[in-house]
Amino acid sequence: MKTTSSGGDVRLTGISKTYGSFTAVHPLDLTVPQGSFFALLGASGCGKTTTLRMIAGLEEPSSGTVHLGEQDVTALPPYKRPVNTVFQSYALFPHLDIFENVAFGLRRRGIRSVKKQVEDMLELVQLGEQARKKPHQLSGGQQQRVAVARALINHPKVLLLDEPLGALDLKLRRQMQLELKRIQTEVGITFVHVTHDQEEAMTMADTIAVMNAGRVEQLGSPTDLYENPRTTFVANFLGTSNFIEAEIDSKSGDEIVLKAGGGKLVLSEARCGAPAPTGGRVLVGVRPEKISLTHADDAGEIPEGRNRITGKIADSSFIGVSTQYVVDSPVCSDFEVYAQNIDRDPRLVPGAEVVLHWNPAHTFGLDASQDAEAGVEEAA
Ligand SMILES: Nc1ncnc2c1ncn2[C@@H]1O[C@H](COP(=O)(O)OP(=O)(O)OP(=O)(O)O)[C@@H](O)[C@H]1O
Ligand SMILES: [Mg+2]
Repeated sequence: MKTTSSGGDVRLTGISKTYGSFTAVHPLDLTVPQGSFFALLGASGCGKTTTLRMIAGLEEPSSGTVHLGEQDVTALPPYKRPVNTVFQSYALFPHLDIFENVAFGLRRRGIRSVKKQVEDMLELVQLGEQARKKPHQLSGGQQQRVAVARALINHPKVLLLDEPLGALDLKLRRQMQLELKRIQTEVGITFVHVTHDQEEAMTMADTIAVMNAGRVEQLGSPTDLYENPRTTFVANFLGTSNFIEAEIDSKSGDEIVLKAGGGKLVLSEARCGAPAPTGGRVLVGVRPEKISLTHADDAGEIPEGRNRITGKIADSSFIGVSTQYVVDSPVCSDFEVYAQNIDRDPRLVPGAEVVLHWNPAHTFGLDASQDAEAGVEEAA
């Protein structure tokens, strides 16, 4: 049932929204390519819903334009835009059965023979068996899929989803994430999905725009954002990052050599998102799962060429798939390290002296003038 229509690009140009003296969305330029699964990710109040509502036409922008394909839709009312929205409270019609809920958009447009289309749509969301049930007889996830079917049957060029899985419990949410992704791949239309859940955005989206206080802080694929965050906010909001404040000692070729707490660290210049003059400072970032822990007694066995710092285990929690350590180090008081559960060294317990080491290629550098803790609270 792939839609063949073109023009499903969403293009926002200088779009903003102010309420009195408060700016909910700062002037924003954003293009969502046709057929992509795009996520707007950010903490509560950062302007996600406002942005989505401006695309839908439910909110009038204070400045800027909205294009869908070649068409400027800025002045069009919602019902004239080739867009449908699925909200968290999906509000199915309680007195209509599932079939009629899905058929609603077609009937409203005066289409009589709805059977084939509705059946295809129920098939798509795997609810063919449930057609004659009422909404209250379905689970939350099933109801959510009815809401998606009800929106898709209108063949929108763009489907907007505002925290559609917010009301579901964690397990069901995980299932529905994969389900929505499958549906999007199958129908091939543009999905713009709003969520505050970073794992949800990473699981589903081709491209994520990380929003912070009414601005897009960074835009990219999930792997790009995760591996190459450009701000501490993005580094902390997507997963966990450790930061060491370091001084630039020297450069050789592509390598920046840094001094931190008496030791040396190496950072590739290509992965340094900050100006890097000798004597300047950068925040050196490394993800917890990139780090290996070796007991200090075995420090001699660590291969050459790895970045290394010393520390003492402050805390450890075994969570089955991995052990999560907090290490107290002279360069960072609560270094997080995730060790995959393969061969566990029984000496790695709180109080143990350890060396933390990692491949320099897994190091990223950020502007040291930022708050290293930005985004930590929001991601919690
Ligand atoms: N009608 C309004 N009048 C005044 N302020 C508003 C209005 N609507 C939204 N805001 C403010 O604009 C900001 C952005 O709101 P928005 O609903 O876009 O946030 P959000 O990112 O969707 O948050 P959440 O994750 O909680 O849904 C918030 O600070 C909110 O209080
Ligand atoms: Mg919202």
